[in-house]
Amino acid sequence: MQATDLVIFGGTGDLTLRKLMPALFRALNEKSISEKTVIYATCRNKKQAESYASKLKISLKKYLDNHEFTEERWNKFKKLVQPIVLDISDSSIGWQELKNQLRSQQQAQRIFYFAIAPTIFAKCCEQISAFQLNHPESRVVVEKPLGYNRKTANEINQKIAQYFDEKQTFRIDHYLGKETVQNLMALRFSNILFENMWDKNSIDHIQISISETVGLEGRADFYNDAGALRDMVQNHLLQLLCLIAMEPPNKLNSDNIRTEKLKVLQSLRKIDTDSIREETIRGQYVSGEENGKLVKGYLEELASTNSFCETFVAIKAHVENWRWAGVPFYLRTGKRLNARRAEIIIQFKSTSHHIFSPSQGEALPNKLIIQLQPEERIQLQLNSKDLAKSKTQLQPIFLDLNLTENFPTFYNDAYKRLLLDVFDNDPSLFIHRDEIDQAWAWIDPIIESWSKTNYQPELYRAGTWGPETADKLLKQSGRAWHNQ
Ligand code: BG6
Repeated sequence: MQATDLVIFGGTGDLTLRKLMPALFRALNEKSISEKTVIYATCRNKKQAESYASKLKISLKKYLDNHEFTEERWNKFKKLVQPIVLDISDSSIGWQELKNQLRSQQQAQRIFYFAIAPTIFAKCCEQISAFQLNHPESRVVVEKPLGYNRKTANEINQKIAQYFDEKQTFRIDHYLGKETVQNLMALRFSNILFENMWDKNSIDHIQISISETVGLEGRADFYNDAGALRDMVQNHLLQLLCLIAMEPPNKLNSDNIRTEKLKVLQSLRKIDTDSIREETIRGQYVSGEENGKLVKGYLEELASTNSFCETFVAIKAHVENWRWAGVPFYLRTGKRLNARRAEIIIQFKSTSHHIFSPSQGEALPNKLIIQLQPEERIQLQLNSKDLAKSKTQLQPIFLDLNLTENFPTFYNDAYKRLLLDVFDNDPSLFIHRDEIDQAWAWIDPIIESWSKTNYQPELYRAGTWGPETADKLLKQSGRAWHNQ
């Protein structure tokens, strides 16, 4: 295991405390990273640096599972963490100290993690370069949101590329670190059962849905500028769509996977002002009941009387290629919905000829339900004879595979997985610059069309499944969201 100097810019931020540090704590505990790792966490001032250890301890206790945190483990972990006062925009604060502390490339590999707002990525790169901290082997990890639209995303990527090669740049989409998401490729490409059924001939439509019960969670400023489309669809949902729709790569390596994903993004049919109202639904929550508790509406949470930010979006997307011609991909995501769930539904076509009479019940189309969270399970809905009745009566039943029962030691910490991949210099689960560009190329016209047609979000009550028109998006072609 290589010794590593990991510099986290934004060491006191939510992402670092909530996700990165617990992931590193787990990684050390299971001996996946060397005890010679040093984690530099940048702080804005001396006070923050002095109280860093106690703050970190509190947040680790909060975000790790109870059994994971022990004093003994904490004592080991805290030795790795080095708070450092540093101002990204001021070269006289902290940069020289950081330089003095970092080990040489021969002694430790070097990773920079940008857990900061993208508006200061460029400045951070400049300082890294000015202080000659970047070696050809060092790596930089950047978080979403990468840009606000295609233009700004390209500007950021351009800037990073001035200082880091593409092979040094690791763009994170934490959904790709979820074991269940990686399992999509295993499921698709190692089971002949699906090989000949994964196309327009057998599949009626696909649903990709990530519903959340949380609201703004203190991220009002960021969220109100972004909205659900930029926050969730541009990255997580489109990445899931790529994994479901892509052609099998001829080898499972990062270049081949990225090439196939890129082709999917390039095949997405553009949504414009003519199709915007038929193919997209925007929503914004008002107060309602969430898990038996009354919760505030979006505007109240925002403490504003006016915002057209969408907290819900549903889209009917089309991948225009040979495999998927005519098969709609319904994408849906939103805050303050009825349940926290991420799932993919592959709805197959009905059998081509019906031999059962109507009185024997309906042969429902088969469905493959891939639930990514909160439970990791795969279900296949089939039709069966109701064995409790002597006469043939059709009844839907499920082949139900609970992944956590099959893999009891499986622990789904996406950030740990991705951080370890950066430590191992494995880019397979990171996003290529071209993917970001193509994803924005599809998203930008949607946002422009919303604006040109003055398409405002429809209100929905917190705790429901979103605006009523989202149901119509499917109903018009005799389909329905899978909300069970
Ligand atoms: C983030 C979004 O990328 O993903 C958040 O910015 C969202 O708004 C989160 O809550 C959801 O991630 P997960 O892993 O909890 O489904």
